[in-house]
Amino acid sequence: MSGGTGDRGLLLVTGGAGFIGSAIVAGALEAGWRVRVLDSLRADVHGGEPDVDPRVDFVRGDVRDAAVVDAALAGVDAVCHQAAKVGLGVDFQDAPDYVDSNEHGTAVLLAAMDRAGVDRLVVASSMVVYGEGSYRTSTGETERPAPRRIADLDAGVFDPRDAAGELLEPQLISEEAPLDPRNVYAITKLTQEHLATSWARSTGGRAAALRYHNVYGPGMPQNTPYAGVASLFRSALQRGEAPRVYEDGAQRRDFVHVRDVAAANLAALDWTAEQPPDTSRAFNVGSGTVHTIGEMAEALAREAGGPEPVVTGEYRAGDVRHVTASSERLRTELRWEPSMSFEEGMREFATAPLRAAVTS
Ligand SMILES: NC(=O)c1ccc[n+]([C@@H]2O[C@H](COP(=O)([O-])OP(=O)(O)OC[C@H]3O[C@@H](n4cnc5c(N)ncnc54)[C@H](O)[C@@H]3O)[C@@H](O)[C@H]2O)c1
Repeated sequence: MSGGTGDRGLLLVTGGAGFIGSAIVAGALEAGWRVRVLDSLRADVHGGEPDVDPRVDFVRGDVRDAAVVDAALAGVDAVCHQAAKVGLGVDFQDAPDYVDSNEHGTAVLLAAMDRAGVDRLVVASSMVVYGEGSYRTSTGETERPAPRRIADLDAGVFDPRDAAGELLEPQLISEEAPLDPRNVYAITKLTQEHLATSWARSTGGRAAALRYHNVYGPGMPQNTPYAGVASLFRSALQRGEAPRVYEDGAQRRDFVHVRDVAAANLAALDWTAEQPPDTSRAFNVGSGTVHTIGEMAEALAREAGGPEPVVTGEYRAGDVRHVTASSERLRTELRWEPSMSFEEGMREFATAPLRAAVTS
């Protein structure tokens, strides 16, 4: 991350006490931003008081509270919106909380930005807006397969096939691909993007939506229903247990380091300063290197000196098989490059501190 270049202005990071938000805060301070954080410290994600850099103006509050947001926006030049209820959740009973936290919360924030005349926004979106990845048929056409059938999953047929039963070949997905959010969380991430676009159009704002791939790195949450797969494996190893890998372990993903994601946010913030009013654009954020979930489990187990992963053949209904991003747009338009290789990142993550566990 580049060093400071004087005062860039005051940046509000919502969710700045979270896993990705705190990496953005660290990067922003280093790059010369003054930083305010607005975070409610959700009890279901924070197991203790987070470490907050003393240079940060920390506001404990909820993005759904208009009065709190109005106060937090005083003097702010740009907003980096990370606050959200994340992950797949436990079951459909989580739906109202997802919609309220993510959709309503974003609407309250954007309305307050309009009142305050703040016109630069970066919003955290996710690869989950695509649903299943993009594939090529044996005759070279692009195909986006429907959700896999339970009968196939039960029979251990994990890879999507075309109508003739031929295996489909996974490809990188680009920002132009049709969107197909397949669970409530994914729907709320897409709605956040649509809200940002609508805000930009009606207020003359500039918005970048960053579709993060599988983010990992120090400070990741531990074993919660909302945690990502890297943290589930890492938590198992910390308990001395083998990582349990679903399906056959060949699911393809792009694991991107949290400091690279923070750098993408800073590049996107700079980009918003250069755009004309009424601009909104989505960017995939991935390392550009495809790995399987099995490879990730093996790398972590090796680096942690823990037991070998167990490939269980079990599955979670609703999981997508392969989804990997093309981050060309981010590289060319935002001049962003990932700095952390998979090998180096997994070596660091295998023993990196995780966020304090939630006890209740
Ligand atoms: N971790 C990933 O792999 C990943 C992937 C794609 C997208 N994202 C997105 O990145 C963002 C950050 O995710 P994270 O992994 O750092 O999660 P996190 O749970 O560690 O951080 C979210 C932070 O937001 C706060 N928060 C939640 N709701 C709030 C509200 N209503 N008001 C104020 N603060 C609130 C929480 O207390 C927490 O500190 C989220 O928008 C998430 O959807 C994450």
